[in-house]
Amino acid sequence: MNICILGSGRGSNCQAILQAFQDQKEQNCKISAVFSDNEDARILNIANSHGIDAKYLPAGGSSSKLDPSLEKAWIEQIQSYNPDFLVLAGFMRILSPAFIHSFNENIINIHPSLLPSFKGLNAIQQAWEYGVKITGCTIHWVNSEIDSGKIIAQAPVRIMPTDTLELLQQKIQAAEHMLLPWVILDIANGIIPLNHV
Ligand code: GRF
Repeated sequence: MNICILGSGRGSNCQAILQAFQDQKEQNCKISAVFSDNEDARILNIANSHGIDAKYLPAGGSSSKLDPSLEKAWIEQIQSYNPDFLVLAGFMRILSPAFIHSFNENIINIHPSLLPSFKGLNAIQQAWEYGVKITGCTIHWVNSEIDSGKIIAQAPVRIMPTDTLELLQQKIQAAEHMLLPWVILDIANGIIPLNHV
């Protein structure tokens, strides 16, 4: 299967995906390209260093969505790779119904909490400040509401009395880096079906 990744920042999940597939010599999936709305995003360097096409595309003035006048270019550029599904790995913009439909709703996102708790920004801090004792990460299908699509998989992380917020962030990232490649492989191998809508 052909996969494109969209991200806005650090790219540690993208790195985990590329590393996992490199190690497993996985034949069923190919990361074709990585797209970012942030020209300086480390995710683009990570893609480049793995020999993957890495493209910055301008997204417009709003920080929370793609400018409608630029959305078509995003869709066309991504579709030129003919992806079976898209992975949002730290992509900071909400996608429109038209964008999502252009990819047959086959888009997954990773979020650093156990949804439906702690949607939106700073989810790890939200959980920390609330005082829950179990949090984690969630992979879900993307719809046009924030962190609200159907849940695919979750990994729990305990919050221990000795934890700090920084330590909790590291623990959740480690959980993300295991869960996301597993889910991508399960989709590629047909264990998690596409066209879920
Ligand atoms: C991850 O914590 C992910 O859950 C959230 O954004 C973060 C991206 O991190 N959606 P990275 O860019 O993959 O390092």
